Amino acid sequence: MIEDTMTKDDVTLVRESFAQLHRRRSETAAMFYGRLFEIAPEVKPLFKGDIAAQGVKLMEMLTVALAALNDPGGLTVLLRKLGRSHRGYRVQERHYHYVGEALIWTLRTSLGAGFTPEIERAWTSLYTEIANTMMAAGRAA
Ligand code: HEM
Repeated sequence: MIEDTMTKDDVTLVRESFAQLHRRRSETAAMFYGRLFEIAPEVKPLFKGDIAAQGVKLMEMLTVALAALNDPGGLTVLLRKLGRSHRGYRVQERHYHYVGEALIWTLRTSLGAGFTPEIERAWTSLYTEIANTMMAAGRAA
């Protein structure tokens, strides 16, 4: 559970860095998808929308992550639903790994010196927790 792996400080770090990404959301989205399609070109055909729609999707993904922080435990139902819908989009388990990589890379590149090891650890815990819940639901679907 998220509340078992993240401290209060971790939660604050994630919230603050999200706010920075959100302020620069279109360039952040371009960076994220550019990186994702570079490390995992196989996932490109899964995305049907244009880059603007994908930018909205990235922020939706991060908003789900933030919501999970605000309501730990309460979001399991939503994450399970997302896990099932992602299986429907033909998302494979290894893709979760690539998305996690692209996300951390985007944070590091966008935040620069502000991307501390603590922030990296906090985002990694959160992403891992969410991805694990979604993958488990996808497997059971
Ligand atoms: C933390 C993990 C993730 C979260 C929270 C997340 C969240 C979302 C949300 C909220 C949507 C909007 C549509 C819906 O509600 O189903 C969506 C769509 C989608 N996601 Fe994810 N996602 C995650 C990981 C991934 C991964 C690993 C992939 C694989 C590359 C992926 C590929 C897609 C695709 C293809 C769509 C359909 C929209 C489109 O065609 O552009 N997602 N995701």
